[in-house]
Formats: sequence, structure tokens, C-alpha cells
Amino acid sequence: MRCYKVGIIGCGVISKTYIKDIKRLFQNNLDIVAVSDTDLSKAREKAEEFQINRFCTPNELLDIEDIDIVINLTPPKMHYSVNKKILQSGKHVFCEKPISLSLDEALELKKIAETKKLQIGCAPDTFMGSSIKTCSKLIEDGWIGKALYVNANMMSCGVETWHPAPVPFYQAGGGPIFDMGGYYLSALVMLFGSIREVYSCSRTGFSEREAFCGPMKGKKFQVQTPTFYSVILQMQSGVVVTMNISFDIWNSSLPFMEVYGTEGTLQIPDPNMYGGTPKVFRKEQKLGALFDAGTISDSPYSIPEVYQNVGNYVRGIGVNDLAESISRGVRCSANIDLAIHVLDGMLSIIHSGETGQSISLSTSYSEESSI
Ligand SMILES: NC(=O)c1ccc[n+]([C@@H]2O[C@H](COP(=O)([O-])OP(=O)(O)OC[C@H]3O[C@@H](n4cnc5c(N)ncnc54)[C@H](O)[C@@H]3O)[C@@H](O)[C@H]2O)c1
Repeated sequence: MRCYKVGIIGCGVISKTYIKDIKRLFQNNLDIVAVSDTDLSKAREKAEEFQINRFCTPNELLDIEDIDIVINLTPPKMHYSVNKKILQSGKHVFCEKPISLSLDEALELKKIAETKKLQIGCAPDTFMGSSIKTCSKLIEDGWIGKALYVNANMMSCGVETWHPAPVPFYQAGGGPIFDMGGYYLSALVMLFGSIREVYSCSRTGFSEREAFCGPMKGKKFQVQTPTFYSVILQMQSGVVVTMNISFDIWNSSLPFMEVYGTEGTLQIPDPNMYGGTPKVFRKEQKLGALFDAGTISDSPYSIPEVYQNVGNYVRGIGVNDLAESISRGVRCSANIDLAIHVLDGMLSIIHSGETGQSISLSTSYSEESSI
């Protein structure tokens, strides 16, 4: 395949990881030719740091004719409008999560892309990393039998401990579901298929937060979204998931994700990461001759990742997959249909938390569809 020319819109915190990893891992397929931001000084900083030839405004970037793919790294509330402009300029999009803040907007983006014969890729793409892919293979190969239940937990104390611009994470379009829910939902959908119904209970643990770093350090700000969700998901396959997603927790020993099957238990590493060691506990460890003889451990066994681990915290695999998919004329893995179903899941969880009602999703996802 040829090398695809890439532009970036939004040069904040995560842009550094994207640029570094694309240059480290995918330089044969992806060439970052320009970076842009509404704050030009941020674009200049990234261009200088990574020897990128051009920094400019977002509109100037969209006017560069030979750019094939634009990566949208703006804050979530800007995703829809920036994605729309990228598509209207005739370029493929890879957007950070979520694709937009409403289903109608996401469906409109899909329609524009179809009309213009363009592809949309959307984070999270962490399910393409070595750890979740290994877990998928372990499940497929029957290591834990038929999956029955899942327990998943994203227990964090909030982004203000590390992000220099924390306020949007606590406004409409922020909160732990929009920020982190996508990692868990996309992993669940890739492992167990579509989500059928959700019920959630939401709370706001702290009405005010304090920024601990960046230009706002020491300043207090108001919290305008729930920051704790306790969720039950019913998957179409019958698998039942219980999940906690929170910005209110100082520390926790709950697992990131555990799958309970008819033949054993699978411990899945952090779905926000690309690499990590899965662990399996088989029923033989509780029952049978090996157990009776005391010759088998009663702890879960670490399973080596059977796909290449290119690092635990990596960004850009989805952009590379998008370029390869465009080249082969197939739908990319972190595709718009998956992004829409995951968004439907996130919106349903938020809505259920507001209303106290369980919600049936209006979308489903199949890996089989084409573009
Ligand atoms: N920070 C992380 O660790 C992280 C990790 C994974 C995903 N993400 C996702 O990446 C996206 C960006 O996050 P971030 O932490 O880098 O945010 P950030 O606030 O650090 O940076 C966003 C940048 O976008 C610019 N911007 C805002 N509106 C714009 C517009 N209309 N056009 C062009 N530029 C615009 C801002 O000036 C800023 O430089 C979000 O969707 C976030 O969910 C972030």
C-alpha cells in the first residue's frame, strides 16, 4: 500500500502520544504532514517537537489537497462539527472518542461519509491491542467454556489529578461514561456481541473539584455531571455484565474486567491499554485429581499475549488500520457502526441514570457488515 498523508486537528494532551506512536510504529503507512489547532501556539509546539513540516489553522489544514486522513483530537463537544468539516473537505476521519454527543449527529456523519465514499474510524481502538485480542482468542478457543457473566470496573479519582484542562470532563459531554465508558463497551461488544438493554444508577460524589495541575492548579470548579455509575448490561448473547464507572474513587482492588464462564474465569487487563497479561483460572484448579493431589495452584495462571505487544499505552493502531482498510477497500475495524453502537450504549447508560428506567438500545453491531 502507499503511504497515506495525515493531518491532525487538536494539539492538546493526547496529540503527543498519537504523533510519537505513529512515527514509532507506522511511518511506512502514515506520514503526518500538518498539525493544527485553534490555538496556533499549540500546533507550532507539536510541529517543532516532532519535526512536522507544517502547522496551521484547522481550515488551512482541510485545504491541503493531498491529505488523505485527518485525526480529530479536539474535545468531545467539538467532535461532531469538526468531523463534519473533515468529511465535507473530502478526507477520511479518525476521531477520538466519542464520535459525537448524539446518535442523530453520528448517523448524519455516517450518511455524509457514505455519500462521499469516505471512511470514519473512531477510538477506542484498544480492542485491537495484544491483550484484548489474546482474550478474544482465549474465549473463542474455549479456555473458560461458555461466557456467562462479566464484572467490569473503571474506578478512578478523576482527571483533575493529571489533566491540565479538567473542567470539560465535568460538564455536559464529559463525565466518566463519555470519557472512559467507550473502552469498556467496545471491548465488551467485540468479545460478546451487541448490547441489548442497560440499567444504571448514577450519582455525583463531589459537587466541587480542585485542579491539581496545569494553569488551573489550586482553582476550584463546579461539577455538572454525574461522576459515578453502577450499571447492568444485558448483551444480546445472554451474557450479563455488572459494571462500575467512576471518577469518585481514590483506590480500589476490583478487577478491570473479569469473565465468568462455565469452565473457568478470565481476567482481562485494563481495556484502556493495548497490552497487558490476561489470566485464566480453570475449573480443574478447584476440582479433580490435580486439585485432590494438591499439585495445582489455586491462583489464576498468566497467559502470554499471543499477538505482538507494541506497548501498554499506545495510540494510532486504529489510524493505521483505517489506512490499510482504505487501501484494501474494506471497512476499518474501529468503524462508524461500532462507534454508533457504543455511543448508543453510553447515551443509554447516562439516560437510564437520569430516569431510573432500563433502556433497550436502538442499534446493534455486527462484525460481518461491509462498507
Ligand atoms: N488526554 C488523554 O489522555 C486522552 C486519552 C485518550 C483519548 N483522549 C481524547 O482525545 C481528545 C482530546 O483530548 P485531550 O486530552 O488531548 O484534550 P485537550 O483539551 O488537552 O486538547 C484539545 C485541543 O483541541 C483544541 N481545540 C478545541 N477546539 C478546537 C477546534 N474546533 N478546532 C481545532 N482545535 C480545537 C484545543 O485548543 C486543545 O489544544 C478527547 O476526545 C479525549 O476524550 C484523551
